[in-house]
Formats: sequence, C-alpha cells, structure tokens
Amino acid sequence: MDQDNPRIAIFDSGVGGLTVLRELRATFPDADFLYLGDTARVPYGTKSTQTVCRYAVEAATFLQQFDLSAMVVACNSASAVALDDVVTRFPGLPVFGVIAPGAAAAAAASQTGKIGVLGTEGTVRSNAYKQAINAIRRDAVVWQQACPLFVSLAEEGWVTGDVPILVARRYLEPLLEQGIDVVVLGCTHYPLLRQVIQDVVGPDVTVVDSAGPLALALTENRLQGRSREHGLKVFTTDDPARFVAVGESFLGSSLGSVSQISLEPVS
Ligand code: DGL
Repeated sequence: MDQDNPRIAIFDSGVGGLTVLRELRATFPDADFLYLGDTARVPYGTKSTQTVCRYAVEAATFLQQFDLSAMVVACNSASAVALDDVVTRFPGLPVFGVIAPGAAAAAAASQTGKIGVLGTEGTVRSNAYKQAINAIRRDAVVWQQACPLFVSLAEEGWVTGDVPILVARRYLEPLLEQGIDVVVLGCTHYPLLRQVIQDVVGPDVTVVDSAGPLALALTENRLQGRSREHGLKVFTTDDPARFVAVGESFLGSSLGSVSQISLEPVS
C-alpha cells in the first residue's frame, strides 16, 4: 500500500538554501520537497528587519498552500529576524529555522567557549546566533563577522584557490586572534567555502554548518505524512535558467524543472 511521506517546504532568499535541501534530502530520502528561492529580491542579508520579515511571510504564505508536514526557513538572515512572525502566522505547522540548531551544535562543540560566527550583515546585526549560544552556554564568548564577499564567491563558483583564501583570511584572522575553537557557517552560501574556511582556521578549529543539526532537529519531531510523492518541486521569483545554472552546484545534483512564480503581498 502507498504510504504518506512528509512534505517539507524550504525557503531561502535564493539558491543558498539548496545546501540545506541537500542535507534534508539525505536525511529524509522518502520526503516530498518543495523549495522556493526568492531570487528576485535576494540578498536578504543587507535588508532591514522589517523588509526581511515581510518577504519571509510572503514566501511562507505561498508555500503553506501545499498541505505541508513542516516548513524550513533555510535563510539564516530570515531565520534570525523573521522566524517568530512565520511561526505565529501558521499555528499548527511545524516551522524550523537554522539558528537554534546551529547554535546548539556550536555550543556543544566548543571546549573553550570561544566561538566565532560568520554571517550576513543582517544576521550579525540581529545577534541571533550570539543570543542562542549564550542561552545554552552562559560562559561562551561569541565574536561575529559579516562576510559579504563569500556570497558572491560561492555564486561565482570561486570556492577554491588564492582569491577565496585571501578573502577568508581577512574575515577570519580577527576571530582567530581571539582564540576561537569553533566557527559557525551562519549563512546558506558558506558551506560551499567550507574547505577554504577549514584550511584558513586550521585543524584545531571545528567548523559548524547549521544544515546537519537542522536535519537532525526535524528527525526529532514526528512529522505527519502529507504526500504520496517523494519528489522535488522548485520555485523561483526570477529567471529559472539562472537559478538552475547557479543552483546545481549548491544542491550537488540536477534541479529538474524550475517554475517562476510571483509572491503576493500579505496584510
Ligand atoms: N540566504 C542568505 C543567508 O543565509 C544569504 C544570501 C542573502 O543575503 O540573502 O543569510
């Protein structure tokens, strides 16, 4: 007999959340996935809290029509400021952000309590990781660093070689001078630069990506099956061809067909 599989929707400001989808697909091979990348309005990381909250609610409202088992706010910048708005708007729907699982993994991994967080300008300004880490470990000292160039490097595919190494050194050296032993990749794009970041921080610093702990957090919840399929539907708010061209390196596999949609204002 056919079984109902969980239907999980993921949204991000663009292609970056495909790194989160990649992890979720590995954890839930039978789930039915929907992915929305708001490429018409990316980046979220430089926008005001008010604007990001509005965008996040519009994206969540679009996805919510698909009878979901769970929704994932894959964008760190949106998780940092808009998660409560999304949770409040859809009572009864399990909604997951990336900050709490990433912060918990960082707090657990650190011996010294000295933790570095890399993120967009908005994520850093929100202090969301810092607060979430300190809620678990009051003794932890958290240094944050906005790394805007990492987003462009990941989208250009410049993820190895001299250029990303130089950029990573500039961003990471101030954190290394503080003696951090854990660094959090607090942005969907940064996992593509993971090797470069690990090379720059050296083997004694643990690099934490939120996607793995997030997937684990979903397994700890009993997700209700909602779909007889186990496929992937992808939506973008801008040109699907560019989404596919850039996105496949983030997902690590073919995206299939991508549909262009418009997000409606939500009052
Ligand atoms: N997805 C965003 C994040 O994880 C990065 C790109 C952006 O600024 O929108 O914060």
